[in-house]
Amino acid sequence: MVISPDDFRRALGHFATGVTVVTTSDGDGRPTGLTASAFTSVSLDPPLVLVCVDHKSQSYPALLERGRFAVNILRRDQQLVSRRFASTRLDKFDEVAFRVSELGLPLIEEALTQLECVTVSTHVEGDHTIFVGRVERAHVGAGEPLIYYRGQYDRLSGTSA
Ligand SMILES: Cc1cc2nc3c(=O)[nH]c(=O)nc-3n(C[C@H](O)[C@H](O)[C@H](O)COP(=O)(O)O)c2cc1C
Repeated sequence: MVISPDDFRRALGHFATGVTVVTTSDGDGRPTGLTASAFTSVSLDPPLVLVCVDHKSQSYPALLERGRFAVNILRRDQQLVSRRFASTRLDKFDEVAFRVSELGLPLIEEALTQLECVTVSTHVEGDHTIFVGRVERAHVGAGEPLIYYRGQYDRLSGTSA
């Protein structure tokens, strides 16, 4: 018997994660991005991370074509940024402070950490693609992370964000 998508989602919701916004730019230089919690470290030497992206994501073609991406790890007060990048609106960057890095990647201001990555491999698995990136630059800020658990935003202290 195959588990239903709802049951699968509910089960995975018990794994508490941080929240990232994965960004890149398209062929015209326009910034694009999506909220993603399917992010993890892969290797220390070389420094590799991975992120899993739905093939339906508007950012998917740009991620494939650009060959580099940034992972913006959100701070606990950036819940609105997370919600904005978890939508399908086209103007996600309009009211979000960001800068374009020397590597040409949109970095979200005030994020807890920004990792600039060059894609070293991609792996299609089911309806997602795993992007493995080598971290070229890391900008580490101060503060606490935004947490996502059982479909809700939270903070490390356990009280709702
Ligand atoms: C907390 C949270 C985590 C998410 N994690 C992922 C993820 O890891 N990969 C993914 O493809 N979508 C993830 N999503 C869903 C996308 O953010 C959502 O489908 C978004 O609309 C994609 O935007 P786009 O189509 O403009 O790229 C997540 C959403 C939320 C709220």
